[in-house]
Amino acid sequence: MLPTGVLPTLESLRDALGGLHSRRILLRADFNVPLGADGAIADDFRIKAALPTIRFLEQEGAAVVACSHLGRPDGQPDPRYSMAPVQARLAELAPGVELLENLRFDPGETGNDDRLVRRLIQGCDGYVNDAFGASHRAHASITGPPGHLPSAAGRLLAEEARVLLGLRAEPKRPFAAVLGGAKVSDKLGVIGALLETADEVVIGGGMCFTFLAALGRSVGDSLLEAEQIEACARLLDSGAPIRLPSDITALAPGERVVQAGTDLRPNWRGLDIGPGTAAEFSDVIAEAGTVLWNGPMGLFEDPRFAAGTKVVAEALASSRAFTVVGGGDSVAAIRRFGLEEEMDHVSTGGGASLELIEQGDLAGLRALRESAATGEGDRNG
Ligand code: 3PG
Repeated sequence: MLPTGVLPTLESLRDALGGLHSRRILLRADFNVPLGADGAIADDFRIKAALPTIRFLEQEGAAVVACSHLGRPDGQPDPRYSMAPVQARLAELAPGVELLENLRFDPGETGNDDRLVRRLIQGCDGYVNDAFGASHRAHASITGPPGHLPSAAGRLLAEEARVLLGLRAEPKRPFAAVLGGAKVSDKLGVIGALLETADEVVIGGGMCFTFLAALGRSVGDSLLEAEQIEACARLLDSGAPIRLPSDITALAPGERVVQAGTDLRPNWRGLDIGPGTAAEFSDVIAEAGTVLWNGPMGLFEDPRFAAGTKVVAEALASSRAFTVVGGGDSVAAIRRFGLEEEMDHVSTGGGASLELIEQGDLAGLRALRESAATGEGDRNG
């Protein structure tokens, strides 16, 4: 197997196949795009993100057969998750690409069934995984084809892996991780991993209240995961460099927006970091050499509670640090504020980016490295 971080490239696939002209390449992409209430694509960034790989394959003369999941259908066809809207957008952006129907209409996808793998690879000469956002899933289309076909990482997957593994291995210091989002239980693993490498872990968003409760603060009616208080207390007691909010913007009865310290009245609901905290977090970001941001600082969809997330986003935008944003919600936030172009790397993966930072590897990356190690051909007969 290749060492972690080294993935077979599109060029190595081309060489293994003696050129890509007239070769049929199965492309696993992550076209799991957000859909609006009308079923139309709300944001096509994941389709656009696959274009560099598609362009390379097409310029080399390959025929591209793309496949992806969309949403979480229950292993059977469900019109709500049809690929038709993606197909229509793809036809505009990359007209020559064939797109298969939603992989998760077949229970064999999440069940990692080899029968589905064999159906997918039928008639194909090579396989490319460019589905970074789904590469933490040991699903048929992610881990199966590299066992049968010469395989490679697409441009997007390779770049995501390079940036996120680089962040783990050799961040420019000081390295500040800014974490938010609702649930601390989703993030404890990654907080633990980041504390091994980051110089400071800054915590806002709904999950800060479980940490504040662990410090004995009264968090009122804010989000709280009582069963995680002990785990948060252990992290804080260990002397780990964790920075928590020093003030909170909350919603009080009568729809009143109030500014508070870190002790909230019983019927107050903390929904954003306060202005003092936003300024403190901005100072950390301004002094950092590397910043990883994952998860909004508050309920930014509501303008009354968007300020903390906006100030943090603007601090990243004006920082000299190498800035990496991951996770669907923080990416949605920087888009809303029009700051996407100001970031050095915007990850297309939510769960995948956290798992890669936490574990240093993903099922899909391992499968590609193993394929490179065993050489081309069908090792499963
Ligand atoms: C994502 O949106 O994070 C990826 O497409 C993975 O989707 P999943 O969480 O449904 O596997």
